[in-house]
Amino acid sequence: MNEFDNPIVNQRFDPAHAITEQSQRRLFLKSSAAVVALFGSNLGFAQTAKSVWGATKPFTFESIPLSMATDGIVVPKGYRWAVLAAWGDPVNGRFPVISYDVINTPEQQAKQFGMHHDGCAFFPDHGSSSKGLWVVNHEYTDDGLLHPDGMKNWSLEKVRKSQAAHGVTIAHIQKHEKGSWQVVAGPYARRITGYTPCAISGPAAGTKYLQTASDPKGRLALGTINNCANGVTPWGTYLTCEENINGYFVKKGQVSKEEQRIGINAKGFGYRWEEFDDRFNVDLNPNEPNRFGWVVEIDPRNPDQAPIKRTALGRFKHEGAEVTLAKDGRVVVYMGDDQRGEYVYRYVSKNAYRPNQPEINRTLLDEGTLFVAQFAENGEGRWIPLVFGQNGLTPENGFPDQAYILVESRLAADQVKATPLDRPEWVAVHPTSKDVYVALTNNNQRGKEFPINAANPRDNNLMGHIIRWRPRQQDAANDRFDWEIFVLAGDPENADPNLKGNIRGDVFGSPDGLWFDQRGILWTQTDISSGALGKGAYARITNNMMFAADPVTREFRRFLIGPNGCEVTGVDLTPDYKTMFVNIQHPGESPSERSNPDKPKAFSDWPDRKLFSRPRSATIVIWREDGKPVGA
Ligand code: FEO
Ligand code: CA
Ligand code: CA
Repeated sequence: MNEFDNPIVNQRFDPAHAITEQSQRRLFLKSSAAVVALFGSNLGFAQTAKSVWGATKPFTFESIPLSMATDGIVVPKGYRWAVLAAWGDPVNGRFPVISYDVINTPEQQAKQFGMHHDGCAFFPDHGSSSKGLWVVNHEYTDDGLLHPDGMKNWSLEKVRKSQAAHGVTIAHIQKHEKGSWQVVAGPYARRITGYTPCAISGPAAGTKYLQTASDPKGRLALGTINNCANGVTPWGTYLTCEENINGYFVKKGQVSKEEQRIGINAKGFGYRWEEFDDRFNVDLNPNEPNRFGWVVEIDPRNPDQAPIKRTALGRFKHEGAEVTLAKDGRVVVYMGDDQRGEYVYRYVSKNAYRPNQPEINRTLLDEGTLFVAQFAENGEGRWIPLVFGQNGLTPENGFPDQAYILVESRLAADQVKATPLDRPEWVAVHPTSKDVYVALTNNNQRGKEFPINAANPRDNNLMGHIIRWRPRQQDAANDRFDWEIFVLAGDPENADPNLKGNIRGDVFGSPDGLWFDQRGILWTQTDISSGALGKGAYARITNNMMFAADPVTREFRRFLIGPNGCEVTGVDLTPDYKTMFVNIQHPGESPSERSNPDKPKAFSDWPDRKLFSRPRSATIVIWREDGKPVGA
């Protein structure tokens, strides 16, 4: 039996849809090596599928046709949008403004929004839907754009500015009557950059792995970098997640197995920080990379509190940190490690969250257990603890202590045979059912370097997919779960079974941002690489996009198309659902210019148009002309 043989579940589907679903399934069965696996994958899930997936909230907007893509923002009929804050805008709403022709200094950049906005969250002032804090990650820099003359005459000054454009912004924002918003002055406005002092806490803090010549105690790192997706805790803090940290480091000498596993090599990604900042020269500072690749907790309303790197949550290429509560109140954090063949992790705190005891809540991300997921072929899954002495994590196998296991989480996960996935990006938890969804963006090495399995069923998976699982007893702390494939992304009209997909709704691929609002709408954002847009599998898709999806009907409806060369990533809503915040990252990116970073990018002039030749990443706000809630 699979989910579609279950009469209770079947009542949700109209016959046309059921036929389409089954045709897709047959196509899939014919084409994939995972035939047995797929049938198996629904067996376990059907046992728990009798309760609903959440409630359908019918979408009230019309899908945007693909043909409307342009070098701008396209939103549905009846919607409006405006820029809230772009790279270089002052975080206090006043000064220093970005300079169009004079070079901004690192000190000025450190008072402005950073580059390449990603994960984000709105923290309302006392529940307000018109005033609050805007907290946003700045993932990385294109130094060809950051400096008016690009990477020519590379200098310490330019390295400092690049570091200042990384990290996180906290700004006060306020709504205008008409629906747009602006950044305003306030006491909490600040930047956290690539050199802001950050505390290190949890089991690996202070250990030999974290100690350096400039920080012999191993408890104070400078900066947070490659801040990708995010999370928000019930006690009002923000989690920023360090992803591709390896790219900032360079090691000319022989790399260790640990360095190799996180991707450190002789070249890095070309940031060239190591030329003027020895911290990023691994030959000189072998432990410095161990101080990055963590989840970092920030209290947006406490500027005196340094950001805290929480080592109990493990070290890898952290995409995001989705926080939920177990039935007994313990804190559960789901985390993807975004690289081909990497894993999904879960953290469970030792103690329960106590709404009125901030002193306890401050320790919840320091004491707990890190797990990694195994997705069995029969649709069952389990969480395997990464604990010293258990499951082969012993000195004989190269794991001397718990701190090493946390610093080298990937090696520990390899040892316990976690399931390698097709690039785990954002994780989202449904607000009522507690089902968990993970975006697996794509993997062109599936079927080659990585064998096909039930959870990763497509050879050369260019379009990606989304898996969902239900914890047993619907309790996030349960070590068992049942999983299924929620959607194979793709083009419903494509005959190639590896490219066909998404049979209920609009064509899309490479899902990345994934977030549930409290009404149960799954917002999905795409990150198709600039080299793939408009070609091959993506021939019909020229720009990245955003969708509203229904967990019950599985319909994906196109809600936004972004400007040329951008990625759409990061989303939040005000408590009244009337303002949506969305980040537009790296407009203008194109493959040819990527290899020539000195050249200002001509592919997009969004959002400033001809006023300013360099495109800028930005947060936009979206609202309805009739003032009603966004989406539904
Ligand atoms: Fe920063 Fe995996 O995206
Ligand atoms: Ca991402
Ligand atoms: Ca991505």
